[in-house]
Amino acid sequence: MNILGIESSCDDTSASVLTDEGVQSNVIASQSIHVKFGGVVPELASRAHHKTIAQTVEQALEESSIALDEIDVVAVTQGPGLMGSLLVGLCFAKGLVLSRDIPIIGVNHMDAHIYANFIDESPEFPFVCLTVSGGHTQLIHVKAPFEHEILGQTRDDAAGEAFDKIGKILGLEYPAGPMMDKLARKGNPGFHKFPQALLNEGLDFSFSGLKTSALYFIQDKEDGFVENNLNDLCASISEAITEVLVKKLAKAAEQTGVKTIALAGGVSANSMLREKVEKLANKKELKLHIPKISYCTDNAAMIAITGKMKAELGQFDGMELKPFASLQN
Ligand code: KG4
Ligand code: ZN
Repeated sequence: MNILGIESSCDDTSASVLTDEGVQSNVIASQSIHVKFGGVVPELASRAHHKTIAQTVEQALEESSIALDEIDVVAVTQGPGLMGSLLVGLCFAKGLVLSRDIPIIGVNHMDAHIYANFIDESPEFPFVCLTVSGGHTQLIHVKAPFEHEILGQTRDDAAGEAFDKIGKILGLEYPAGPMMDKLARKGNPGFHKFPQALLNEGLDFSFSGLKTSALYFIQDKEDGFVENNLNDLCASISEAITEVLVKKLAKAAEQTGVKTIALAGGVSANSMLREKVEKLANKKELKLHIPKISYCTDNAAMIAITGKMKAELGQFDGMELKPFASLQN
């Protein structure tokens, strides 16, 4: 089966071709227009998707050496995401399947982050997945394919949002996560102890207090404090975010009794988080799965693999497929 995956939920337009031999292409066109606004501007995002989607799909087909008429099914992100952005991908996918008379499969973007773990590996069910992205932070008990229980989630900001917002306070460009990660590697995580919210209260997360705490901490310092201590500040913030993520992942694994854990979402590219999760897996003798970095951040290969898994279960959709903006579980 040859699957074309299409992703356009936020600010990346992506297309991927997946065959029985694996991922043949995964083209990602990231939108730089949002940098000067310090965050994604929904209207600009949908216009940019509109501009790039045809050439992104064309490139994905070209790189895979699979022709459009060899594609058997189109898998497309249905939600959650920005409504205008989702509509561009969905309408494009519908046009393709109509013209070729092939089936369409709507994919939940959050499921796709989890199933990105199945692109190169075959995690055993059941497992607990920590999904950490710019929009969501969730601990999910994945009992069987598409049988999920949310064990905990953020009550306010997502982990990626915390990296991005605190990075902005420190003067970094949007999205600040990758730069915070890079600078943190040269800094001292013990420079300042920032709060780790809700640490002993179940499996929910809260990151908005950390942002306020970072703001207060630097507010009354001398000129040049942030610039002179940027690496240490990034390391201490990263420490606070990743500690709480890993401690709750450990608790979730213990509570459910699973033998396998996984990471998913853009923040799982974070090196400090990866290190801590690897240590946890070693200590507790858990099998750990982490997608390679290009499958962690938003991409269409994860949409294609999820589409493949749904196709294997006979879960196809029709032209009535509609986008949804917020989480449906
Ligand atoms: O999954 P994703 O690509 O998009 C969403 O669905 O949100 O995640 C993007 C988020 C952004 O907040 C970005 O700053 C963060 O992932 N991110 C990172 C790193 N790489 C991406 N955060 C921390 N460290 C990284 N290396
Ligand atoms: Zn995402």
